[in-house]
Amino acid sequence: MLHLKLPTDPRWASVAELSLEYILVDHAWCEQKAATSCISLIIQFSDKEELVNQVTPLVTEEWGHFRTVLLEMEKRGIPLARPRKDEYVNQMLAFHAKGASREQKLLDQLLTCALIEARSCERFRVLSLGMTDPYMREFYHRFMVSEAGHYTLFMNLAEHYLPRERVRKRWEEFLEREKEILATFEPHPHRIH
Ligand SMILES: [Fe+2]
Ligand SMILES: [Fe+2]
Repeated sequence: MLHLKLPTDPRWASVAELSLEYILVDHAWCEQKAATSCISLIIQFSDKEELVNQVTPLVTEEWGHFRTVLLEMEKRGIPLARPRKDEYVNQMLAFHAKGASREQKLLDQLLTCALIEARSCERFRVLSLGMTDPYMREFYHRFMVSEAGHYTLFMNLAEHYLPRERVRKRWEEFLEREKEILATFEPHPHRIH
């Protein structure tokens, strides 16, 4: 369903489980960034009614995710500390068309959001299937379901504003690029991406 070109090695779940505190911190920042990028989309494309209507509730949902992960950290006495540089997201952003039309910018941003949601969903699935603690399996299962819905929302928004063919063509380019980016770094024991 997600069309991702590089499946995550299922063994990553066991490694991640051993360094759960790092995974939780990284996950918390991912949720915070998801909320922030939704706000930024709303500000940049405030004239696009459908986008504003659909993305506004998403801010609340992603912020809720952030709080859920923070709570889990608090229970375990893990501090949030400072964010790290997000090489995965930065490289995806560098792939955006330079000096592009507003329409192209909208497309690239929606597809980037869709792709990050899709990859997060795929990684949460691996964690939900591969961790040994039933509580954590359920924890990641819920995130997996939620991020799958966000992936669909961003894809639908792209097709709402741009011709389907154009969206599909650019989506293929994004999928290829994401595969190349991920191939340069192994699934990290401390990171979601
Ligand atoms: Fe989320
Ligand atoms: Fe999401």
